[in-house]
Amino acid sequence: MITPDTIDKIMDAIRIEEVVGEFVTLKKRGVNLIGLCPFHNEKTPSFSVSAPKGIYKCFGCGKGGNAVSFLMEHEHYTYPEALRYLAKKYNIEIEEEKPTPEQQEAQNEKESLFNLSAFAQKYFEQQLHESEEGKSVGLPYLKERGFSMEVIRKFGVGYCLNKWDDFSQTALKQGYKKDYLLKTSLSKSKDHMLYDTFRGRIIFPIHNLSGRVLGFGGRIMVSDKNKPKYINSAESDIYHKSKALYGIYFAKSPMASEDNCYLVEGYTDVIAMHQAGIQNVIATSGTALSFEQIKLIRRYTTNVTLLFDGDPAGLKAAFRGIDLILEEGLNVRIVLFPDGEDPDSYAQKHRPAEVKAFIEKQSVDFISLKTNLLLDETKDDPIRKAWLIKEIAQTISLIPEAIARTIYVQKCSEMMKIEEQLLVAEVNKLRRQKHAQKAQSISREQDMPEPGPGHSPARQGEPANNDSQEKELIRLLLHYAGKELLFEVENEDKRMEEIRVKVVEFILQDIQSDNLLFDNAVCQTIFDAFAEQWEQKSLPGSNYFTEHPDPGVRQMSIDLLATRYTLSKNWEHRHRIYITEEEEELKPRVLQAVYALKLKKLEQMIDDNQRQIREATTGSPPNEKLLLELMETGRDLLSKRSKFAFALNRVVTK
Ligand code: UTP
Ligand code: MN
Repeated sequence: MITPDTIDKIMDAIRIEEVVGEFVTLKKRGVNLIGLCPFHNEKTPSFSVSAPKGIYKCFGCGKGGNAVSFLMEHEHYTYPEALRYLAKKYNIEIEEEKPTPEQQEAQNEKESLFNLSAFAQKYFEQQLHESEEGKSVGLPYLKERGFSMEVIRKFGVGYCLNKWDDFSQTALKQGYKKDYLLKTSLSKSKDHMLYDTFRGRIIFPIHNLSGRVLGFGGRIMVSDKNKPKYINSAESDIYHKSKALYGIYFAKSPMASEDNCYLVEGYTDVIAMHQAGIQNVIATSGTALSFEQIKLIRRYTTNVTLLFDGDPAGLKAAFRGIDLILEEGLNVRIVLFPDGEDPDSYAQKHRPAEVKAFIEKQSVDFISLKTNLLLDETKDDPIRKAWLIKEIAQTISLIPEAIARTIYVQKCSEMMKIEEQLLVAEVNKLRRQKHAQKAQSISREQDMPEPGPGHSPARQGEPANNDSQEKELIRLLLHYAGKELLFEVENEDKRMEEIRVKVVEFILQDIQSDNLLFDNAVCQTIFDAFAEQWEQKSLPGSNYFTEHPDPGVRQMSIDLLATRYTLSKNWEHRHRIYITEEEEELKPRVLQAVYALKLKKLEQMIDDNQRQIREATTGSPPNEKLLLELMETGRDLLSKRSKFAFALNRVVTK
């Protein structure tokens, strides 16, 4: 484990332009450096690096982050790998935290399990190619199924002799401990005797990202209804089924370069696809993708194509699992294979070029396919149609990307022959509900200002795209918290006096005195961090947010820190201090942002108030006392609104 101290040293040494500069040709433009984005294809540069802020941001594809995340994204490094790379680059000696004896032991044990698995893989592979039984039973089976020697070797396929304990005994003789043989489930014990788990089976080793063997799948060669087709390694300290993906070691680079991956169901499908020249293929062990597996995939691509064997009914059973993938922001396409075929059987019957052509031709986006399948069922039944619209809206509402949602809304409403607006409304409703649930889970004791009786403080989640005022305020905090604003105030002697107020002070004071809360939870988190630190009269550095543990905070701070503002023309006169045009007119900007946010909040309250008045009037008999109070509050709110609107207008037009 790298010590926090070393991590600090590395972070201090990083010059983002040097790190990114190794992979992207950067040119100076204003305060920033720009270049062609390495994450998408472009001809005019929209990839910008800010040296003082230590971040990069592409205005074309939206990717952004710091030096560490750049390496993780571009070079597919893990976090520690990226740190090691940087330490080497900046000649920083890595101090590793001395693990506690327990940690050391756990580490040693894991290492032993890996070593034993590596030994087992070699042993099984050797048995397949060199033992009599392997050559007369194992290899012919694989040949019969059409696998070439090349892919058999590539995937390290092996064979376990159909003997009681040949493997276990060999391993013991080589000094591998019985305890580890049991923990990897390579051996089982009966009456204190060890026997081989995979007896008489073809062995498919399962590799992790870096190519180390974690576990095995063993296939029986003749079907026997008393025995399972596959026996798989049990979970162990090194093998977690929900994290492993069969084939990921071979698929990871092709996944990144093709910007897509094919997800199949079984070991043999992965191998057959490779043989057909398609390498960006992975498999789960016949289960739906877990959250961890989705995260792993996303390190390389955001596009997943599910190669689905079987009938549409089987596919329908998988719908909910697929929703989960959409929710994580991946694009999902589906290829349905003809009845009775899976990728393996199809690839064995067709030439590689035909397989590729088939997959390309058949692949359809999941949401359209789902709409079509369900549409078939609903026919002209209006009740079923209403259900269908809800169902499709539900799926679309999961997609985090607004543009993608819009595209699907257009596409699907056309398919269902309904007004686009109908689907938009349904999707927005669902997103608001989700948003409200989230907001509630982080809600706190404070409420909105007290506008009067019957006010419901928990406004039911604003749509996510209506938080621009909140983001603008946070953006100003991130950029200019420590800068000073000049105000003229009347002092005790009735004389005008200039006082200086830091942007952070001004914003905190103004927002907190009204007890305003942000609808956007990420904005609230960032705001709270400023409030907390400012109590100690300190300010969070920008990397406090760009390296924050919450990915939402990281993303937002990077998005907001990246600016396209150009340098002030006056910068040279200002002692070579970089000043953006924006900074020259900071005060009106800040005032504008604060007023605009308050105005928006006031409008929400006015809406609430009017709704309550409507409700109070429709009651029978109408609650007159409440009604009067509500109307009083309403007038109050309206007059506040015109005050703010006036103030805002003055700032804007000044
Ligand atoms: P399949 O039954 O589709 O097997 O199960 P397959 O991979 O196509 O194998 P072949 O082509 O018949 O040889 C898909 C996956 O489900 C898991 C395995 O991971 C398999 O690859 N599975 C299946 C098991 O774990 N146990 C079983 O008994 C069957
Ligand atoms: Mn199969």
